[in-house]
Amino acid sequence: MQTADKKRIIIALDFPDERSALAMADQLDPALCRVKVGKELFTAAGPHVVRELNARDFDVFLDLKFHDIPSTVAGACRAASRLKVWMINVHASGGEAMLKAARAAVDAESHRPLLTAVTVLTSLSTAELQAVGFKDDALTTVQSLAAMTEAAGLDGVVCSAVEAPALRRRVKPAFKLVTPGIRLPEDAAGDQVRVITPQEAVANGADFLVIGRPVTGAKDPRGKLARIQQLLETT
Ligand code: C5P
Repeated sequence: MQTADKKRIIIALDFPDERSALAMADQLDPALCRVKVGKELFTAAGPHVVRELNARDFDVFLDLKFHDIPSTVAGACRAASRLKVWMINVHASGGEAMLKAARAAVDAESHRPLLTAVTVLTSLSTAELQAVGFKDDALTTVQSLAAMTEAAGLDGVVCSAVEAPALRRRVKPAFKLVTPGIRLPEDAAGDQVRVITPQEAVANGADFLVIGRPVTGAKDPRGKLARIQQLLETT
């Protein structure tokens, strides 16, 4: 096991409104998982839903993937830190100055969430990446953006668990790898292209697993989460 963190699973609360998101959170135990608030829920419900989740003792990953000029991203990271969330993220392709501005903004706060960066969206193929102007293939781009992220002092990256072994070999052990695209054999892949089981993700070096629909779409979300955790404990 790469981490002793019992709460390595982050449940993606991809819901259109606060009521549905909190109804799901209320079926989960904050001692056994963390939760992720992404662009859909935050745009609909705003900081209020984050405060409600904090009040229920959940660690919140605020997944807003900031990507803008350095001063704007710094301001967004400052505001996100003040929501007392556990983790925030930016896009590594915003560049070194933007990453350093984000780092400095978080470091100046009394509550400092983990600061991670998205390397390449897992939905992008090498062909699409090159069409937007990147010269290398997806894995090479992921590796160079992860190296830049680590050099800028961020705490980790969001990446595909398929890419995790190649990154694990290059980054420091404390550098966090956060991986979505997790499925058990019985789950539908949905719109995820490259899926991997929780055990494979951890074996590949992932520290935190982002899991959405396999848990939130299950008849018994709490039971499904317990089953995934049991699988990880016996790996
Ligand atoms: O439902 P599912 O398990 O596919 O949810 C995965 C979550 O991880 C979603 O919230 C999605 O936005 C997020 N994510 C992802 N791929 C990335 C970055 C984030 O699937 N590269």
